[in-house]
Amino acid sequence: MMRLNRRDFLKSTGVTILGSALPFGLVKVAFGANNPGQKFTFGYISDAHIQHLGGPKFVRNWDRGLIRAVQEANLLSPRPDFFFFGGDLAQLGTKEEIDHGLEIMSKLQGKVNYVMGEHDYYFDLGKYWESKLGPHYYSFDHKGVHFVVLNSILTHDEWTFKKWPTPMDRMLAMARLDNPEGSPFLVGKKQREWLKRDLAKVNKDVPVIVCSHSPLQKIYKGWNFWTDDAEQVLALLKPFKKVTVIYGHVHQVQYNQIGNISLHAVMATAWPWPYPKTYSQVKSYLPVLTVPMNRADPFFERDATGWQFIDWKTGHADMHYQLPNNKDRGVAYNRKTGRPEDTRYQDPKKRIPSQKHF
Ligand SMILES: [Fe+2]
Ligand SMILES: [Fe+2]
Repeated sequence: MMRLNRRDFLKSTGVTILGSALPFGLVKVAFGANNPGQKFTFGYISDAHIQHLGGPKFVRNWDRGLIRAVQEANLLSPRPDFFFFGGDLAQLGTKEEIDHGLEIMSKLQGKVNYVMGEHDYYFDLGKYWESKLGPHYYSFDHKGVHFVVLNSILTHDEWTFKKWPTPMDRMLAMARLDNPEGSPFLVGKKQREWLKRDLAKVNKDVPVIVCSHSPLQKIYKGWNFWTDDAEQVLALLKPFKKVTVIYGHVHQVQYNQIGNISLHAVMATAWPWPYPKTYSQVKSYLPVLTVPMNRADPFFERDATGWQFIDWKTGHADMHYQLPNNKDRGVAYNRKTGRPEDTRYQDPKKRIPSQKHF
């Protein structure tokens, strides 16, 4: 397979090679005899955080991040089968922000499946988002893969419906990273029961891809890099041979393998969050398999933002992270070790040394 970095990719007049060098026979075996499956590609844009400043004004930097992702994704050739938007389209969930974000997204060529983020939800509890985009959780089948989209950013009713002075006070409480007035995210019982019924119809050989906003694993509670009922959701996915979970919210490259389940984070178009393990005062649960994002310039907020496309080849996702201001990243499933691995920086000697704090 020919490898292109982003600059080559842009120079190549929109022609890039997304195919795999793997023989079809291996693909067939990996999918199981009854479900030969097909290779395909899909794109993933997430965490745009479109922010309204009043009147016609929006935060320009967040607009530009999303516009650039859409423009670059439009150059992909061959075209991906469809896209996901991974949540946090808006910053404070208002009609103006959602409309403005959808206006930018309308330029993306191809179908987009939307995931609910907490910044989209906690102002009006997802009502405007739902009126524009449909149900908060749903599933569909595509080329032998069962896709599930979950709303993983719900929380306990006592918190959601407590006496907030205004809906915006509730939104602002959930919008903060360190979240002192926040509440842990939940998929919740109602949606878990729906998921159980949905998965009951699916053959256990069929690969499953689950898209959520928050990680369906417990990384760091202080920043809500966490879903409180993650184990209960993963338990429903355990009987399936090949499961991939893709999540936004953390604004950084992460990957992990829990049993049969590969987990991948996607980058934001707005800004990168630091890795929680740099927050040394509090115990972190960052999956040990993740190689921290190499950032050439930690003071430049565009460094370590971007978008991604995903090659679906042999029942596993190969993640291609496109970073406009840094080297592109790749995370692919390694059949020998049985887990996703960084294809570039797994070797510590090849990493860009992290910033020194004084
Ligand atoms: Fe976000
Ligand atoms: Fe989020």
